[in-house]
Amino acid sequence: MKKRYAAVLGGFFLLFLLSPFSWGAEMGKFKYGDFKSPKRCGMCHKEIYQEWQQSLMAKSFTHAWDDAEYFKLALPQAMKLAKVAGVKGGCIACHSPLAFLTGDIPPKPPGAGTRANEGVSCEVCHNITGTTEKVPFNFSYTIQPGRVKQGPRKDVKAPHGVKTSQFLKSPEFCATCHDEASPYGAWVKETYREWKRGPYAKEGVRCQDCHMYYGPGNAARGRFRKDMAHHVFHGAHFENKLAGAVDMAMYSRVREVRPGSSLKFRVELFNGKVGHYIPSGSTEERMLWLEVWAIDSAGHKYFIPVDRKGFKGEEYTIASSKALAYQAMGEIMGIKGFKGIKRDGGVPDGARIFRKPFFDPKGRMTICQWYTANNTLVDYRIGPRETKVETYTWKVPSGVAPGPVTIKATLYYSLVPSSVGMFLKLPPTEYRPMVVNTNSFVVEVKR
Ligand code: HEC
Ligand code: HEC
Ligand code: HEC
Ligand code: HEC
Ligand code: HEC
Repeated sequence: MKKRYAAVLGGFFLLFLLSPFSWGAEMGKFKYGDFKSPKRCGMCHKEIYQEWQQSLMAKSFTHAWDDAEYFKLALPQAMKLAKVAGVKGGCIACHSPLAFLTGDIPPKPPGAGTRANEGVSCEVCHNITGTTEKVPFNFSYTIQPGRVKQGPRKDVKAPHGVKTSQFLKSPEFCATCHDEASPYGAWVKETYREWKRGPYAKEGVRCQDCHMYYGPGNAARGRFRKDMAHHVFHGAHFENKLAGAVDMAMYSRVREVRPGSSLKFRVELFNGKVGHYIPSGSTEERMLWLEVWAIDSAGHKYFIPVDRKGFKGEEYTIASSKALAYQAMGEIMGIKGFKGIKRDGGVPDGARIFRKPFFDPKGRMTICQWYTANNTLVDYRIGPRETKVETYTWKVPSGVAPGPVTIKATLYYSLVPSSVGMFLKLPPTEYRPMVVNTNSFVVEVKR
């Protein structure tokens, strides 16, 4: 009786803490014992277990950047600033649903080895029954742990109960965690909504079709299927998924230039493979950028800045080593006189950056998505099946070596600006530039 009372009180306390995030109907309703560990499921679902373990779903609470952002930034700010107090549990509702569902808020850091570390586990997705929202976002899933698992098929014989779920197969299922509104009402994750407005939704191509492969596999011990749903969930953390995601073509009218003249050319980028914008998801910190270099016959390298187009907010899409940002991080960490760090990491001055900048309530650019008041100033990302054309004017230097000059374009992607990565001491793999595509053409320098 006493225990029950404490649990109810705990529930109210949580409700209070979570007030700006009023979704998450299921918080604190369960105990860890209600959910089986992924290892248990893996005894029979070996192949699926291995795939899941390699995916970010298994690391959504433990991997270095999530750990740092929650424990160094979001949680300390939630303890101080009432407006964002809800993120104390809000982050956890998507990144460690078991901890959220059991009211283990804040969970112990990953080093403690608690069950919070299981992340988005089998038992999370296969017990979700639906959503409380018409168009889901902010962990608005409903869940029912127990012997019966939600599965995609009708023709199954399993040692546990299986209920055929249309919801599991729908993009709305993914939307419960992949779309997010900040406590200030800004849409800070919109992958589902981007998809819904784009061409793939109309053609019936779901999230699952691009992020889970269907092919031969061992669905369970003794059960081989020709079209098993593989649990790879590859996204921007996998270079194999990024490689070639955007096509690149280059055009120039002339094939000969003279020192002192100008070479005009264009680079076209076509997003033919991504079902939503690229970048998407954690848009506050993702950067896609285009670097163009000329390399002459003597091996000298010349950087070529992009031509400006003059749209509103364009300055945020042109790399500048002078621009500082992310002041909120220093504020939260209590660093006196913190002026910010480089907005664009190490991207060369004048390169085009495809991004959607987020701004905090004080108008400074931020990677703190929960502390975002506005992100509608400019959206210069590449939409599904959209082509972006960038033009360049190279003022051919007088010292350029005669002979062939190669004009080379490379499209890079990084998960987080390198300046932020270094500031927070993340492992360098978290902010390394990854190559999405590259192309080149050659012109002749005539004297
Ligand atoms: C003792 C072995 C065993 C264990 C343990 C086990 N399963 Fe299963 N499960 C099966 C078998 C066999 C099937 C039927 C597979 C088929 O017909 O494709 C199945 C089917 C399923 C399905 C439905 C697949 C479909 O096509 O609709 C889901 C979902 C599922 N299991 C999830 C889980 C989860 C989550 C766990 C851990 C809590 C788990 N299973 C533990 C043996 C097991
Ligand atoms: C992020 C959510 C998510 C997680 C985590 C997840 N699954 Fe699934 N699983 C799905 C979805 C979605 C499908 C159905 C895809 C479809 O058919 O469209 C599915 C399908 C399955 C199937 C049926 C495969 C088939 O085609 O016959 C089994 C069995 C299964 N999952 C077991 C597991 C096990 C075991 C784990 C943990 C190791 C796990 N799942 C983790 C979302 C998830
Ligand atoms: C219970 C919440 C939840 C659900 C439901 C969910 N996801 Fe996720 N997903 C996450 C979280 C949290 C991450 C971030 C992991 C990280 O980077 O730490 C993520 C990351 C991803 C990534 C990025 C991986 C990478 O390599 O960058 C992909 C792709 C993805 N999810 C696809 C899906 C698809 C498809 C579905 C629906 C079938 C789905 N997710 C359902 C919580 C969820
Ligand atoms: C037509 C195929 C396709 C569809 C449909 C699709 N995706 Fe993706 N997705 C990709 C590709 C390719 C990438 C890698 C490029 C990138 O990061 O944008 C990706 C990347 C992602 C990422 C990482 C984004 C980033 O930049 O950090 C997430 C998260 C994700 N997808 C979730 C989803 C969800 C949720 C849906 C459904 C609402 C979905 N995807 C539908 C192809 C698709
Ligand atoms: C509505 C669900 C949801 C909420 C709430 C949420 N996240 Fe996430 N988070 C995700 C998903 C989904 C991704 C993956 C997006 C992608 O891959 O681009 C993600 C990605 C991230 C990443 C990037 C991981 C990487 O490796 O690039 C960090 C860090 C992160 N979240 C931390 C937090 C913190 C801290 C909070 C609370 C202030 C929070 N999240 C709240 C769903 C959520």
